[in-house]
Amino acid sequence: MKNKVIKLLAIWGVLIFSSLSSFNSIFAQSAMTNVPARHCINLNGKWQVIIDPTGAGDWRQVWQEKKPEKKTDFIEYSFEGGPLLNVPGDFNSQMTELKYFEGTVWYKKTFDYNLDKGKRLFLHFGAVNYLANVYLNGNLLGKHEGGFTPFQFEITKEVKKGGNTIVVRVNNQRLKDGIPGLGYDWFNWGGITRDVNLIETENSFINDYFIQLKKHSYNEVLGWVKLNGNNLYQSVSIKIPELKVDYKTRSNSEGLAEVKFTSKFKLWSPGNPKLYNVIIESETDTVTDYIGFRSIETRGTKIYLNGNPVFLKGINIHEENPLRAARAFSESDALILLTWAKELGCNMVRLAHYPHNEYMIRLAEKMGIMVWDEIPVYQQIEFSAPGVTDKMDLMMREMVSRDKNRSGVIIWSLSNETNTSPGRDNALITLTDKCRHLDSTRLITSVINNQDYKNNILSVVDTLYRHFDIISLNEYLGWYVPWQGPARNVKWNLVCKDKPIVISEFGGEALYGSNYGPKDEAAFWSEEYQEQIYKDQVAMFGTITDLCGVCPWLLADYRSSGRMHPVYQNGWNRKGLLSDRGDKKKAWYILKAYYESINNIY
Ligand code: GCU
Repeated sequence: MKNKVIKLLAIWGVLIFSSLSSFNSIFAQSAMTNVPARHCINLNGKWQVIIDPTGAGDWRQVWQEKKPEKKTDFIEYSFEGGPLLNVPGDFNSQMTELKYFEGTVWYKKTFDYNLDKGKRLFLHFGAVNYLANVYLNGNLLGKHEGGFTPFQFEITKEVKKGGNTIVVRVNNQRLKDGIPGLGYDWFNWGGITRDVNLIETENSFINDYFIQLKKHSYNEVLGWVKLNGNNLYQSVSIKIPELKVDYKTRSNSEGLAEVKFTSKFKLWSPGNPKLYNVIIESETDTVTDYIGFRSIETRGTKIYLNGNPVFLKGINIHEENPLRAARAFSESDALILLTWAKELGCNMVRLAHYPHNEYMIRLAEKMGIMVWDEIPVYQQIEFSAPGVTDKMDLMMREMVSRDKNRSGVIIWSLSNETNTSPGRDNALITLTDKCRHLDSTRLITSVINNQDYKNNILSVVDTLYRHFDIISLNEYLGWYVPWQGPARNVKWNLVCKDKPIVISEFGGEALYGSNYGPKDEAAFWSEEYQEQIYKDQVAMFGTITDLCGVCPWLLADYRSSGRMHPVYQNGWNRKGLLSDRGDKKKAWYILKAYYESINNIY
């Protein structure tokens, strides 16, 4: 057993660094875990910016910040005297002229820092959408691609006592070989969209750890601790004072320590979101976390939480605060969105279609809401283009690395509605296997919407499901696809008959306040029409034998440039159960009543 664990740990270590090194010549490091518990100096606030629609800043090398030395030195750029933008936050919602901007914005921030001898300093970004080149004092630290996962650079050697200048080149242009690709049904909010922190550590510190229950166990923790620095062979302990756990182990020459202990845990669940104060200690560092312990698994066609069958009463959420019509980034944004989800009667949120900010994950866990965590391998992806599968791999690792100790996270989802092709299947099968190697404790899936619907029979035929733990599919019967008979008579024909089914999306659009009778000419956009879709869907749910969860699309109306009907959409996707002002549409009450009717033990 010990060898198997060490082998797994080694896989983890090798896979992390191999995927990174094959990515960029200068790449960001994978972020240290549990940033909130670190010694952070926050760089949020006003940053100076240069808006650069033509990319002139690249050949002018604006990060060098050249200053005129003589009268005839005409330097045709400057951060000084330019506009300021708030960080964190998308830039589109902060300046009218940036509303639909897709291009480069240069950000600048200066800071002083007195780094004591023997300490180390890191520059950490919660996320930048989409491409980030990061410079410190005129020199490139490195690059990161991907708009929804954290990254960092060590700046111990580069930081000066006074007058340090960070310049970040942010570019949110959509890329054919990007993840997501060129087309997606949400707004392309660009910018430094999440917190920026300086993190000071000891010379040898606790860089990462995984402390969760072993698969199928309710009392055994199987994990690891990873040190970083030049003193890697240390004694390491895991303390849980409330349980009188004081587990001791040692790290090996790579700084890797196996963790394996048992205790009698109060298991985390929506009804009892118990989190324990866990203290991870080495000889040179201490990190405190609040960790829940629970078991999530499938047995045949059911999903089990802590050994009891559970029905996922879900809701899809985009990372957007509709009240501000902007990218959500703060704990208060998370509280608004998750309070609505709770009020709706949900026990799970699907954070579509990309990892949301860490406030959402941590608050959901505290509120007892399970989380479906997903990377934006969305619809048109160029699987065969060079580097695309590396990008998918890196994004998956960054998501798993950040959230793997959050017991609220029960599902890793590795794609949504990608088109059937051999390239796609191979890429997703490989990625699913790698994800399972990194974390065997959670359910892994991808959302496929490859169904046939004929003679009121819905056939789910994609064999890719064989590689996933659940069958998760999006169906829009009653909206994109007219019913072919009474909803309660729909027959489901599944190619994989031995797995739980979760309907990961359904719904339809309604403009809040458009109240027409179902017969009127604009019925398609009325609240009554949306309400009828929910009534019919609920009628159908009752006939699906192995249905273990539903997840309507979605909580609130959200910005999407492709939704262009000038009256009903006006640049918004109106499938929300809430309007963009938080008004409850009629369908809200149908879903709420349905969830209340399900006597889940949680
Ligand atoms: C798709 C997709 C969503 C999209 C939704 C819609 O299923 O997964 O991202 O917004 O349908 O058409 O509104």
